[in-house]
Amino acid sequence: MIRHFLSISDLTKTELQKVLASGVLLKKERAHGKSRHDFKGRVLAMIFEKPSLRTRISFEAGFFELGGHAIYLGPNDIQMGKRESVADVTRTLERVASMVMARVFDHRVLLEMVKYAKVPVINALSDLEHPCQTLADLMTILEKKKRFKGLKLAFVGDGENNVTHSLALASGLLGMELRVASPKGFLLDSDISRKAEELCRKSGGKIIEIREPREAVGDADVVYTDTWISMGDEREKEKRLKIFRGYTVDGPLMHLSKKDAIFMHDLPAYRGNEVSAEVIDGPQSVVFDQAENRLHAQKALMLFLLKNSESGMLK
Ligand code: CP
Ligand code: NVA
Repeated sequence: MIRHFLSISDLTKTELQKVLASGVLLKKERAHGKSRHDFKGRVLAMIFEKPSLRTRISFEAGFFELGGHAIYLGPNDIQMGKRESVADVTRTLERVASMVMARVFDHRVLLEMVKYAKVPVINALSDLEHPCQTLADLMTILEKKKRFKGLKLAFVGDGENNVTHSLALASGLLGMELRVASPKGFLLDSDISRKAEELCRKSGGKIIEIREPREAVGDADVVYTDTWISMGDEREKEKRLKIFRGYTVDGPLMHLSKKDAIFMHDLPAYRGNEVSAEVIDGPQSVVFDQAENRLHAQKALMLFLLKNSESGMLK
């Protein structure tokens, strides 16, 4: 079997905990200057249909730091689905690369890729999920709060959003309570919500969807927000700026959370919209820890996927 990573829930709770622990270890090793060569002679293909800073630098640097070479394929390079079919692109790449990561507009492209891929495929953000971000977020929460079970997370803003979806599934896997405050019409996708609820039944987690940001943030350990205008939503910019007014995480809102609460954002951030400068640049903000942890968590993920795929692709 080939292990892919299209959703955070493609990992079991135990596997997720294992990957996070490995990320923590890799971070320590790196700080001590230890070098590794697990991916020597291997290539990672990176498909980007959308722009990126964190995802590109963390995957490229991460694969390189493990001894391999990453190849960037930008929006104009392969034009998947236009210049060539998704099937043909995948069947070509896997002949050269040991792993493929892809940032796509439509999640269905990833589902199509895994039909043909004989190497692991990683979701580097789609319209449905951003599981690599969530891995780094979980690692950051673990560093700051030392546990998951029973933690209260508040997400304020766009509930129908890749980052929110992956956070909801992760909360279900790990037994956290996630309160999502979003305007009418911007609830979690119903399939994601159903799946997260199902996971919660096993873990003791909770997903609560509400309208009022203050209700979500009250007594929270973690306050999270993301852009109101995700990549692909640009045409709705004016409409969204109006709808989300009142959903800014600012000082007074943050003040309602626990005293030692942390503020999280996957970045890029738009100060004055979803978050005030005072909060994102303030003492509770851990956004650059999240950004750094992309590197460590994804190195751990890539090692896990190759080690656990058919006949141990990584000896
Ligand atoms: N958070 C994140 O995925 O950032 P980029 O879009 O810059 O990769
Ligand atoms: N929800 C945002 C995440 C950016 C990393 C987007 O899809 O644009």
